[in-house]
Amino acid sequence: MEKGIVIGGSGLLGSKILRESAKEFETIGTYASHFFKMDNVTVNQLDIRDEKAVKTFTQTQNPTYIILTAAMTNVDRCETAKEDALAINGKAPSRVAKCAERVGAKLIYISTDAVFDGRKGLYKEDDKPNPINYYGITKLIGEKEVKKNCKDWVICRISSLYGWNTITDKQNFATWIIEKLRKKEEIRLFTDQYTTPTFADNAAKAIIEICKTNKKGIYHLASPECMSRFEFGKKLAKIFKLNESLIKPIVSENLNLAAKRPKKCCLDVSKAKKELKTKLLSVEEALIEMKKQEELIK
Ligand SMILES: NC(=O)c1ccc[n+]([C@@H]2O[C@H](COP(=O)([O-])OP(=O)(O)OC[C@H]3O[C@@H](n4cnc5c(N)ncnc54)[C@H](OP(=O)(O)O)[C@@H]3O)[C@@H](O)[C@H]2O)c1
Repeated sequence: MEKGIVIGGSGLLGSKILRESAKEFETIGTYASHFFKMDNVTVNQLDIRDEKAVKTFTQTQNPTYIILTAAMTNVDRCETAKEDALAINGKAPSRVAKCAERVGAKLIYISTDAVFDGRKGLYKEDDKPNPINYYGITKLIGEKEVKKNCKDWVICRISSLYGWNTITDKQNFATWIIEKLRKKEEIRLFTDQYTTPTFADNAAKAIIEICKTNKKGIYHLASPECMSRFEFGKKLAKIFKLNESLIKPIVSENLNLAAKRPKKCCLDVSKAKKELKTKLLSVEEALIEMKKQEELIK
């Protein structure tokens, strides 16, 4: 049986990939600080900044593929803790790529729409990256290191990630909106930041298909719809039957955030639509699925 390692298995996307992977492969998931348990998954602690640990772990496990989702994902924190951001997002992928090459594993590196500057929008896989914040800069370094240090690589760029987090209580923008509206609190959402939101469960399925079918190169994985946070919030409120009048518009200049935000970072997903069997869900389809998941847990 083929063997897969998901580095960052305790994260939102990592945990969803683990569940999909365990259906097909012998699966190992790693965490850095949040231990977890999952059926049919072996769990190991791994800090990707530790060169020796990454080498020993990959050599001992000898996997068929490695999916690197681990990252410092807080965009504002990357701006203020630059050394950590560079170590985790920029330098560690180079180490993992060298180890993947040594053991002959395929490496799938999870990257981001933040490698683009957001001026053009609807970015294709071969559009030129030009990040405007430190998170984007470090993730682009990660991409380059992966390409340079191993032959069998795939880069999957995703956009604003959402879904139910079953391992930690870390919020994402969808769960945050649901919580606030259920508490009947007013919220402000950007009308001037556009993304193609990515439902974590849907992206996880596409990523496992990419492993199974041995794809190569860059893939953009997101919903095929480009929308502002404000529009997303309104859609979510409708589907979850919450009071959408509590959602107020705001523009990003009105907030003093540490990191600059690209305005239109939407990803063009036509390559994935053409080449993958996994359907990239519309935002509405994904939110309906997310609501169903919650009803099943109750
Ligand atoms: N979130 C988004 O909106 C978004 C958008 C575009 C792209 N992405 C990319 O998608 C990927 C997954 O994002 P996510 O939101 O699912 O992540 P997340 O929930 O923030 O989880 C981050 C993961 O990285 C692990 N990690 C952090 N530092 C580590 C270290 N030094 N060594 C090993 N593991 C470490 C964490 O482990 P512990 O929790 O156990 O410490 C956790 O498993 C990332 O590569 C991110 O750049 C995310």
